[in-house]
Amino acid sequence: MWLPDDPLIAAELTRLRAASEEARAARKARGGFRPQDMSDNIVRMGTEFLALSPEEGELVYMLARSAGAQNVVEFGASFGISAMYFAAAMWKTGGHFTTTEVHPDKCAALHETFRRAGVEDCVTLLEGDARETLKGVEGPVDFVLLDGWKGMYLTVLEILKPKLKPGAMVLSDNLSLASTKDYFDAVSDPASGFLTQRCGDMGLSLYLG
Ligand SMILES: C[S@@+](CC[C@H](N)C(=O)[O-])C[C@H]1O[C@@H](n2cnc3c(N)ncnc32)[C@H](O)[C@@H]1O
Repeated sequence: MWLPDDPLIAAELTRLRAASEEARAARKARGGFRPQDMSDNIVRMGTEFLALSPEEGELVYMLARSAGAQNVVEFGASFGISAMYFAAAMWKTGGHFTTTEVHPDKCAALHETFRRAGVEDCVTLLEGDARETLKGVEGPVDFVLLDGWKGMYLTVLEILKPKLKPGAMVLSDNLSLASTKDYFDAVSDPASGFLTQRCGDMGLSLYLG
């Protein structure tokens, strides 16, 4: 597994990946997700990582770094695996990364992770429902990752769209899930102002402005 060259970030990423694998094994041993994991409650799955794969993490690092991203926003932090890739990219670009998380246990863990990784200066965690907290984000935003609950992608994009810089990239995960269809249909419409391509389970949209 590739690791960023910052030793503190690399150590946190290694620790988080191991914990994520443990959580995945525990889930498998008990027979998969629990009924409460599948509820409509927005605050759920407090022990599940649901993280980007190493390949997807490397991709976000590559894209954010090569774009020289200055103002990155993530919808859905979980325990911060994707955040470590973004924080590593921010060290190189001099940019700032803002992420969002609604589960209080995960928010507490994220603060600890950011402190141990030494990235508190370039990372902001917005706690609570991103559909509210993201209204306060200042633009221009030049890179977005959508990875919270899937049926909310379009609402979140609508909040962020007026803050996007022309040329901003919006990456979205888990597009094979039916609940992302309204989002993908919307950003695939040429009238939307986005140029969109699907890459496996992810989508990449360029904001044309
Ligand atoms: C798929 S996980 C994110 C994984 C993370 N990006 C990573 O790669 O490590 C989705 C997370 O989004 C959070 N979430 C879902 N809807 C949210 C909302 N409306 N506001 C804030 N966080 C939300 C969930 O609590 C969950 O922890």
